[in-house]
Amino acid sequence: QKNGYKHFMLKEIMEQPKVLRECLRSRINEQTGFLQLPSLDNVMDRILAARRIIICACGTSWHSGLVGEYLIEGLGRIPVEVEYASEFRYRSPLLFKDDVVIVTSQSGETADTLEAIRIANKAGALTLGIVNVVGSSIARETSAVVYLQVGPEIGVASTKAFTGQVLVLTMLAVILGHRNGNITDAEALDYARQVQEIPDKVAEILTPENLASLKRLSASLRYAKNFLYLGRGFNFPVALESALKLKEVSYVHAEGYPAAEMKHGPISLIDQQMPVCVIAPKRHHEGNYEKVRSNIQEVVARSGNVIAITDEDGRADLATLAEHVMVVPSTAEWLSPLVSCIPLQLLSYWIADYRGCEIDSPRNLAKSVTVE
Ligand code: M6R
Repeated sequence: QKNGYKHFMLKEIMEQPKVLRECLRSRINEQTGFLQLPSLDNVMDRILAARRIIICACGTSWHSGLVGEYLIEGLGRIPVEVEYASEFRYRSPLLFKDDVVIVTSQSGETADTLEAIRIANKAGALTLGIVNVVGSSIARETSAVVYLQVGPEIGVASTKAFTGQVLVLTMLAVILGHRNGNITDAEALDYARQVQEIPDKVAEILTPENLASLKRLSASLRYAKNFLYLGRGFNFPVALESALKLKEVSYVHAEGYPAAEMKHGPISLIDQQMPVCVIAPKRHHEGNYEKVRSNIQEVVARSGNVIAITDEDGRADLATLAEHVMVVPSTAEWLSPLVSCIPLQLLSYWIADYRGCEIDSPRNLAKSVTVE
């Protein structure tokens, strides 16, 4: 079942090119070339008429929801709020009939997320599920469902479900932007083409050379006690997600921050014992790259140990600053979480493996949290 891999987590990271292709299956219209999510056809007019979209989820699924906020506001131009389901359900949220509540959930059984859906249904809002497990409770209780089509995820640490969720939210954002006139036909075709390139770009990261290099890096970092992850814009949620991944499987303390927030507190933690993973792609990220680069300089000035995730354009420049540079294929800014998260998933995996952790079922964690 593990296909020869030592753990499900590694298998599930490695199969992402294949399952992301599966996630795209039947989601490109063969006649027009536009992206489509057929299971939403019946509710699409209601989504387009929404006053706002609220995304509710927990854990990793909440992180993909945050990427969804950047995507749907950026491309679809519909206001989005992202909430922890556990907060939403207990804080008497204001809900309107023209709200759309989207929940993202791998298992489809997370108790707080399920309850958020029930509250939204009761308020008359349209509810949508972005779910992996077919026929799960959330899939049954939402008005419409988009399945991830990434196959069963066994490892407690979510990896391919995260990229699957981000990919579905990306398709949804492009479709909404196209349908409400913010994206032209020509752009919609071009965006669909770029989305279809993602599985191959993920495969480019998973080469034996890159894996060996990440494994060596993980060996050198295995005794670090604290990590910081920094990212900006679309990559801020990736910083949060990567910190969660490391905590879950390796029991090492890690925090994710928007890069510019570093100087508002966490900078005081930085010393030579502190690895700082910075997501800093350059091509198509003009506005953000220079700003993140200057954050890297601030870390280096305090003897922090920078691990930079960048693209070919940033490689030489960041090699002058960072201890280690990991190159991922360049993408449009709105697609970059789908590639930047991959080396950081592997880093968490191997640090945990070097530390002898029980990676597929970390202590105190369950795959699906069915209690509040
Ligand atoms: O099944 P769900 O996506 O609703 O689960 C939500 C969280 O419990 C889950 O993402 C958790 O944070 C994972 N262990 C993360 O790797």
